[in-house]
Amino acid sequence: MHYIRELRYEDLPEIMEIAEESLTERYMPTLFLDIYEHWPKGFLVAITNAPVGFIAGSKYEKEARILMLAVKKEYRRQGIGSSLLHKFLALCKSEGVISVRLEVRTTNHTAIEFYKKFGFNIISFIPSYYTNGDAAYVMWRMI
Ligand SMILES: CC(C)(COP(=O)(O)OP(=O)(O)OC[C@H]1O[C@@H](n2cnc3c(N)ncnc32)[C@H](O)[C@@H]1OP(=O)(O)O)[C@@H](O)C(=O)NCCC(=O)NCCS
Repeated sequence: MHYIRELRYEDLPEIMEIAEESLTERYMPTLFLDIYEHWPKGFLVAITNAPVGFIAGSKYEKEARILMLAVKKEYRRQGIGSSLLHKFLALCKSEGVISVRLEVRTTNHTAIEFYKKFGFNIISFIPSYYTNGDAAYVMWRMI
């Protein structure tokens, strides 16, 4: 069983650990705080008895972006990523957002399938988007 709530400062060490384990890109610790402070409501954490996943987004006028989404390896395929994304999309709706975009590594078939299931479509391709030179797809959906 899990539930979703907004990030608390004390979650940050575990959130950074999940990011380190799950995401290929490396992020500076201060970036997590910057993202949170830009839009606190848009940084959601899935909790069992500790954080097991998170989604972090930003919002500019009527468009939101998903900046990071990750679920701890041993908790995947149990609907936690879906809960996080559902809650994030509901928040976007309540905040008057009209579309959501994200970038995903073109080789990350799991995440691409996951986002497609939620109605995201690939709308463009960005060569050398990531630090290691990997390309990204931009995925997008209306709220
Ligand atoms: C992408 C991610 C967040 C999904 O989290 P999750 O909790 O495992 O997702 P869910 O259990 O809610 O899965 C929902 C649906 O997504 C799709 N999906 C999830 N994992 C999949 C996989 N390994 N292969 C194919 N489809 C998959 C399925 O359609 C799944 O529904 P189903 O289980 O009923 O078949 C997780 O795999 C993850 O943390 N990956 C590493 C980090 C990452 O790639 N983040 C995205 C960067 S943009």
